[in-house]
Amino acid sequence: MPGEKAHLTREKETLLITLCGKALESRLPDSLLKDWFAAEAVGKIDYDFGRLKVDRNLGVGLAIRAKAIDDRVRAFIARHPDAVVLHLGCGLDSRVFRVNPPAGVAWHDVDYPEVIALRGRLYPDRENCRLVASSVTDPQWLETVPADRPAMIAAEGLTPYLPADEGPKLFARLVRHFDRGEIVCDAYSSLGLKIVAMTPSVRATGAKLLWAINDPHDLEKAVPGLKLVEEIAPYETEHVRRMTLGARLFIGVWNLIPPLKKIGRLLRFEF
Ligand SMILES: C[S@@+](CC[C@H](N)C(=O)[O-])C[C@H]1O[C@@H](n2cnc3c(N)ncnc32)[C@H](O)[C@@H]1O
Repeated sequence: MPGEKAHLTREKETLLITLCGKALESRLPDSLLKDWFAAEAVGKIDYDFGRLKVDRNLGVGLAIRAKAIDDRVRAFIARHPDAVVLHLGCGLDSRVFRVNPPAGVAWHDVDYPEVIALRGRLYPDRENCRLVASSVTDPQWLETVPADRPAMIAAEGLTPYLPADEGPKLFARLVRHFDRGEIVCDAYSSLGLKIVAMTPSVRATGAKLLWAINDPHDLEKAVPGLKLVEEIAPYETEHVRRMTLGARLFIGVWNLIPPLKKIGRLLRFEF
């Protein structure tokens, strides 16, 4: 019987969408993400996941995005086995278990206190993985993170929920804090935010989408030292074939029309 109550609302509740999608995808016979932790966590949470209307297409899409980010984190850690990793807006994502970093990596999972408390009840403790219970926009928590090591910062599904004036400030604070590192995150244009806000899953949570990144170069201008080095095209992989025909056609047309391609992006920056 699921025993953990999830009293989460708005942007916090959206973590149950991504968790549910990753769990669903992990149950497919040819799973890409193989997120057994997500499947197990869903089974332990007392919550009506049906209200989030997560379907196979969403699950496969979320798994593709998560795997692309996992791969960038793994590659960074392979080059920097002494890295600091910041997983911002981690929700209940099991990245630290999937990536399984070596002991020299100092991993930080950061999210609101209610989320971190639930996370602590659902997942085992892990050496060298610190749970940071704070809004990412609060400047204080970062002061406790070692600044002199290469930093890999992953933010999956976070940027739209940050206030538009706080997002660039957070990026600037991160870039100032560390000597060097990378940030990998998804980003949505103003039109992208409107489309995401209309999806049944996000509507069910009542979350507000606030920060649009229409041009990643604007972020480079706003954050001295930040340089866009990769725009990842996650949906150009063979795994899209596991979506329904309708969704594949939609993505095909989408990819052909440049303005539409820009509504949701996966970006990697260096600093
Ligand atoms: C769509 S969920 C994504 C969760 C996780 N990254 C994943 O991919 O499964 C958005 C997450 O961002 C977190 N979040 C939003 N605003 C935040 C803030 N200001 N500080 C910390 N976490 C925040 C929410 O609590 C939630 O866990």
